[in-house]
Amino acid sequence: MKILFFDAKSYDIEAFDKAVKNYKGIELDYVESDLSIKTASLVDGHDAVCGFVSSDFSAPVIEKLASKGIKLILLRCAGFNNVDMAAAKAAKISVFRVPGYSPEAVAEHAMALALAVNRRIHKAYVKVRENDFALSGLQGKNLRGKVAGIIGTGKIGATMAKICAGFGMRVIAYDKFPNKNLTFIEYMSLHDVLEQADLISIHCPLTDENYHMINKKTIATMKDGVILVNTSRGELVDTDDLIQGIRDFKFHGVGLDVYEEERNNVFENRSTDIMETSIVSRLLSFPNVIVTSHQAFFTEEALAAISTTTLDNASAFAAGKPLENNQVK
Ligand SMILES: NC(=O)c1ccc[n+]([C@@H]2O[C@H](COP(=O)([O-])OP(=O)(O)OC[C@H]3O[C@@H](n4cnc5c(N)ncnc54)[C@H](O)[C@@H]3O)[C@@H](O)[C@H]2O)c1
Repeated sequence: MKILFFDAKSYDIEAFDKAVKNYKGIELDYVESDLSIKTASLVDGHDAVCGFVSSDFSAPVIEKLASKGIKLILLRCAGFNNVDMAAAKAAKISVFRVPGYSPEAVAEHAMALALAVNRRIHKAYVKVRENDFALSGLQGKNLRGKVAGIIGTGKIGATMAKICAGFGMRVIAYDKFPNKNLTFIEYMSLHDVLEQADLISIHCPLTDENYHMINKKTIATMKDGVILVNTSRGELVDTDDLIQGIRDFKFHGVGLDVYEEERNNVFENRSTDIMETSIVSRLLSFPNVIVTSHQAFFTEEALAAISTTTLDNASAFAAGKPLENNQVK
């Protein structure tokens, strides 16, 4: 099986070239460009494509891939909201993902954002470099004894919940399908979680029903001085409403690893570009906001797990024994 990797970065190539040595009959090629209607023509001679969170798997792209003989889409990520599944089904292309490569990587980054924004580490770092040792503007809040509100308690949310419990927080959560095994979590409605939490961390997937679940109305139900962290998907939060909420002093801090319209930015050095949107600069104009660029997954352990699972998906598909749990249907 020949797989063409789109949006391949040096760290992807390193991890996959190392992992593929353990798989017979799989050949990997890499291109730097991400998948789009233009770059889809590069797949000639390949059986499968491997894409990431920003790859364009819209219906026209999928149709083009199918016309060039692609049978398999391998996502080297957990989320699959960028894939038009109806189009994939119609084109008889199977889609596989890596559902849980390292929940710790993402949950630890979520807590890192919460801690950094709470204690203004991003501001302190710059101030001390400028020999400004004054503490004004840096005051934080203790987490111990506060309430952590987790939205979505799957693999990552459950890990974040455990981390928060380790900090001595009471953990409340909303999930469409509560996990009864997580006995330390108090499940309640989304409204109640938003109303009671001092730290809200979003860990549910983006679906049609929860697009902009954090909006003007839901922000109004939150406590004043809340910390909001989103490491899940940008479109879960209405950015304009978030910015208004920040201007209204609703938030002590906001930590975002994902944001709307991140697609052109993710993993690119755009320091000399004229940007087409002002979302990041508007968000960063606030002293209590930290934005990272979809890096929550980015640990050594996660990359190793991503490459192994992606290649397991490819070889099981080739052997006619698809790994059911990893298949997107
Ligand atoms: N920033 C990153 O680098 C990064 C990396 C990996 C995953 N993610 C994001 O994290 C998300 C969660 O990943 P996971 O591995 O924990 O997924 P998961 O499937 O294990 O858990 C998702 C949980 O959300 C719940 N859920 C579904 N719809 C919901 C809704 N409308 N409201 C509340 N809960 C809902 C599910 O019942 C499930 O318990 C992914 O969908 C992805 O968007 C981000």
